[in-house]
Amino acid sequence: MCGIVGYVGVKNASPILIEALKKLEYRGYDSAGIAVLNNDELLVRKAKGALKFLQEKIAKEIIRGSCGIGHTRWATHGEPSDENSHPHTDVSGSIAVVHNGIIENYSILKQKLQGKGITFKSETDTEVIAHLVHYYYDGNLLHAVAKALNQLQGSYALAVICKDSPDTIVCARKDSPLVIGQGNGEQFLASDVPALLEHTRTVFYLNDNELALIKKEGISFFNEELEPIEKTAEHVNWDLSAAEKDGFEHFMLKEIYEQPQSLLQTLRPRIVTGDDGLKSVNLDEIGIDQRYAQTPRVIITACGTAYHAGLAAKYAIEHFARIPVDVDIASEYRYRSPILNPADVFIIISQSGETADTLAAMRMAKKAGARIIAITNVAGSTLAREADAVLFTLAGPEIAVASTKAFTSQLMCVYLVALKFAQLKGTLTKEELHKYIEELEALPAKAQELLQNKEIIQRFAAKTFNKKKVFFMGRLADYPISMESALKLKEISYTHSESFAAGELKHGPIALVDTDTLVVAVCTQSKLFDKMDSNIKEVKARGATVMCITYQDESYFNKTADATVTIPRTYDELTPMLSVIPAQLFAYYCAVQRSLDPDKPRNLAKSVTVE
Ligand code: AGP
Repeated sequence: MCGIVGYVGVKNASPILIEALKKLEYRGYDSAGIAVLNNDELLVRKAKGALKFLQEKIAKEIIRGSCGIGHTRWATHGEPSDENSHPHTDVSGSIAVVHNGIIENYSILKQKLQGKGITFKSETDTEVIAHLVHYYYDGNLLHAVAKALNQLQGSYALAVICKDSPDTIVCARKDSPLVIGQGNGEQFLASDVPALLEHTRTVFYLNDNELALIKKEGISFFNEELEPIEKTAEHVNWDLSAAEKDGFEHFMLKEIYEQPQSLLQTLRPRIVTGDDGLKSVNLDEIGIDQRYAQTPRVIITACGTAYHAGLAAKYAIEHFARIPVDVDIASEYRYRSPILNPADVFIIISQSGETADTLAAMRMAKKAGARIIAITNVAGSTLAREADAVLFTLAGPEIAVASTKAFTSQLMCVYLVALKFAQLKGTLTKEELHKYIEELEALPAKAQELLQNKEIIQRFAAKTFNKKKVFFMGRLADYPISMESALKLKEISYTHSESFAAGELKHGPIALVDTDTLVVAVCTQSKLFDKMDSNIKEVKARGATVMCITYQDESYFNKTADATVTIPRTYDELTPMLSVIPAQLFAYYCAVQRSLDPDKPRNLAKSVTVE
């Protein structure tokens, strides 16, 4: 996620902005920039890459001024580059904007503005905001920003300065955090508290649809009708390292808790409502349109957690769209002799977009004539640059080595692909499609609800973290989730964990089951509850302890399982985006019980750029 900072006071703004941006580096970014007002001038400096490159630019072309805004960018629209970095300016070069979030209707707004003769300098969604503010500007910056906001759909935290309004910052938020720090004769602004702590602990949190007019003498707050509102200052009593993690003990836990938001971010820009009121999937960004209705086969290649997203995709695409899907581990794919048909759709999944084996598989398929669709979280990554089309997961930067929110966003992406194919092929009616999309839209709130079960999982982890063996089993959509759950547990708690399709139990794994075994049964596929129940009885008869992950309104397993962790009811086909969350929490709490740092598991790297 991007970072926003702002300063207005009497000191030189640029070093304050740079230091504040440094405090947000932990969030991940690929470029940075600042804009400062100096008398009649608006001075902007931007640079791709690390903050030191921006600092080098500023050292060469010193800028002075006591009011400014800054930004670290995590690219979503347009690759990382100087041009795409924030702040973005309007045509007159007098207004500068920094923005976090996604403007969903930016392409429509861009076309309209281009129709008025406005030339765009970047590929970003944010630039439309600068031009809109300019369009509405009649001497009152606050009014112009409010009018521009009326045109925007999507999420934003933004800050705007204008050379005709010296010593003034206007900011606003919707679905993206923004906090204002109050000083003595100076004010600060940031997307995240760590950027403010060096200067003040007195803060105001903006709520959705609120605006603030910040001057060195004081801050005024407004609702979306621009009526003045009162806000109460709050005192921050965390230290810096806790603040970076938003008060969570580890990045992994923070990222697990971010999933309601990241799922929403992944989904929202891809849903459209027709004149008939029915919702459908729009994947124009990867060019999947009617020409793809005859797709004979989908091939998916990935590693680790991303491979598990690919396996879940197989179940979803085959079920909804009736297209055969082959899923391959990239390190295998690259060395075997795969058979490729030019009409196949080739999907590569990678959080980082830099995994060596995944890139090798992609290049091999490309050489053989395949059109590559990448699903990745990192704009500007090698995968994003070399693929023919990219579906960004939009989960925001993932810092913990163990992937959590990137995985659920990958799942959301593959479900969107599955439903899109079903839409093109007519394997679902418009009404059925609408029904599934509405349920996808309900999942972020359901993820939020199930996170409230964390104490149950924490207590169960406290009782079982010392088990010698942990097996995860499931059927259909629960099987890839069992695999992902076992990987999470072994990665961060170093517990020997394996997973298997529950039907395989009798074909070998049951020989390992004894009183030192914990079996986690993922049970969300209603038509196979009786089969899962039998499997649970079989392992219990051999002394295993069983935890069952099932629906909160389901009593099927009450008598057989030793503990039950629940997820809110959804369609059986869509459960992976929910059922993996208890397993992520379980792995996390087992690691904590063992006094391990879940953010830095031994021998593992976030990005595996070598074979
Ligand atoms: C996930 O928790 C792991 N750290 C690992 O399996 C990871 O998913 C794998 O290395 C692939 O990474 P990628 O998605 O960045 O390509």
